[in-house]
Amino acid sequence: MLGTGKDGVLLRENGLDVPLANGKLAYFNAYWLRDNCPSSFDRVTRERVYDIFAEAVPPRIKEAWISGAFLEITWDNSQHKSRFPLTFLASYANGEKRADIARVTRVPWYSDHYPKIARFAQCDLASDRTRVGEWAHALLQDGLALISDMPDTDDALLQTAGLLGHVRPSYFGQVFEVKTHANPTNLAFTSQALELHTDLPSEDFAPGVQFLHCRANSATGGASLFVDGLSIAQDFRERYPEDFDLLVNTDVPYYCEHDTFDMRARQRVIELDEHGAISGVTISQHQADIFDLPQRDLDRYYPAFCRFGRMMQDEKYLMRFRLKAGECIAFDNHRIVHGRAAYVANSGDRHLRGCYIDRGELRSTYRVIAGEGRFR
Ligand SMILES: [Fe+2]
Repeated sequence: MLGTGKDGVLLRENGLDVPLANGKLAYFNAYWLRDNCPSSFDRVTRERVYDIFAEAVPPRIKEAWISGAFLEITWDNSQHKSRFPLTFLASYANGEKRADIARVTRVPWYSDHYPKIARFAQCDLASDRTRVGEWAHALLQDGLALISDMPDTDDALLQTAGLLGHVRPSYFGQVFEVKTHANPTNLAFTSQALELHTDLPSEDFAPGVQFLHCRANSATGGASLFVDGLSIAQDFRERYPEDFDLLVNTDVPYYCEHDTFDMRARQRVIELDEHGAISGVTISQHQADIFDLPQRDLDRYYPAFCRFGRMMQDEKYLMRFRLKAGECIAFDNHRIVHGRAAYVANSGDRHLRGCYIDRGELRSTYRVIAGEGRFR
């Protein structure tokens, strides 16, 4: 006998059973209870200040009982007492992942999405956090949104992206300029067609959310192409389940090499989130390294890869439109596949200025604006 329980609380060898409001008994481990006692967390820093590694012996419950809406515990070998709201315990009773308001249901879209894109004026975003919350929601739900009335300044891009999170550099620096470069280090910096891709899979942690501020677009051609990787991956899973598994489970190499950098990383074409739902795609033919997989494995992988790539080009999925000067498109670089039709060099100006933030920053901002969190 390790101790005593009352009010239906049952002490077990390594924890206890607690009767919850739904009438069911829920088991909680003693380490977990001691580690997550409300007193373990500092109200100011909001971080855990209790050190379970400092305990010489495993935490043991001496007594436990229900008092109103709380579970009370006294501990062996210490004077410590714990008091847990039963509602808090109920939220961890089933071993389910912590609820997250930023887990917005992703809504797939198709070629006809352009008139339905969530749109925001830059001045509204800059002056109203509620609007920023709506913008973040659109990015979590649809994977992209369009900003209008961008100031025609170099700073406008960073100011706008900064409303959602800290701008993170890539190996091209804080920002990049999509226009015809004299000595291009990337296909984007030419007037050629740019096949559908996600940006920089050659980075270990490829950029999360991309912003492209259109400063000028008077050149002939150069339509923007966007595809929802979620729509394709969902249909792909239904039509080719074995190929889907291959693209989910196989790491393929990407690279980006030039005079001053040689980036290499491995990625999976289809990404699942922590709940097993499709959360994105990573694909780039211009950054795909020579596949160094066993040649026998490629007998199956290449047909699956090509089936997916061809499906991605189906008109059913392809949203094509002309980005206007003064607009900024923001999109999830792990979900939305983008490209560009060729344009006629010297037929006019075409200039997009781009930058990135991480997906985690987007979710963080959304939670804060929504007022959700353990300490709110
Ligand atoms: Fe790109």
